[in-house]
Amino acid sequence: MRLQRLQINGDRIEVAAPSHWTLLEVLRYRLGLTGSKQGCDKGDCGACTVLIDGKPVLACLTLSALCEEREITTIEGLLPAHLRSGGTGPDPVQDAFDRCGALQCGFCQPGMMLSARALLNENPAPSRAEIKDALAGNLCRCTGYTQIVQAVELVVAEAAGSEPEPPAWAPNANPWKNGCAKNGHEEPPARATDNGEGA
Ligand code: FES
Ligand code: FES
Repeated sequence: MRLQRLQINGDRIEVAAPSHWTLLEVLRYRLGLTGSKQGCDKGDCGACTVLIDGKPVLACLTLSALCEEREITTIEGLLPAHLRSGGTGPDPVQDAFDRCGALQCGFCQPGMMLSARALLNENPAPSRAEIKDALAGNLCRCTGYTQIVQAVELVVAEAAGSEPEPPAWAPNANPWKNGCAKNGHEEPPARATDNGEGA
């Protein structure tokens, strides 16, 4: 057992944990920060991704004892960090994932959003290829990745004051065309019924 001094989501925390525990184990089983998911536990899936000094890191492969004096951000810290930096509401990445429907079961989302946040902090205007490359270590078994990439593109487009281009292979999947609105949800477009009237 070893007393560790960690900086997590802006707080200084002292926690006693076995020296061989990973950061993921300490986060989940000592500190109750269960947003970081335990998927494969061997570096394959990215569900455990956290930021250490702003860089995405696999918490399941990182010894907690080696993280002292490093700045750790988990998904629980993303919104507070945005507020501290003068923002209002959730981080734009969280907002865009929500508005684009970029999740199904949600298991991959914490890692996915933190990888996206790290990318955008380093490169505010990544290309689609760069987005895919940055998210390549985060596996999603549900969504097919389309809305996830769109969500990141939406953040980029809104930061630039423009609208994202729909992907050529999924023109109707453009979040703007589907009625996703800034600052909240809109009702989905009324669907035609058998008699041609809106439902
Ligand atoms: S749980 Fe860490 S990479 Fe899968
Ligand atoms: S939404 Fe289920 S794994 Fe990504």
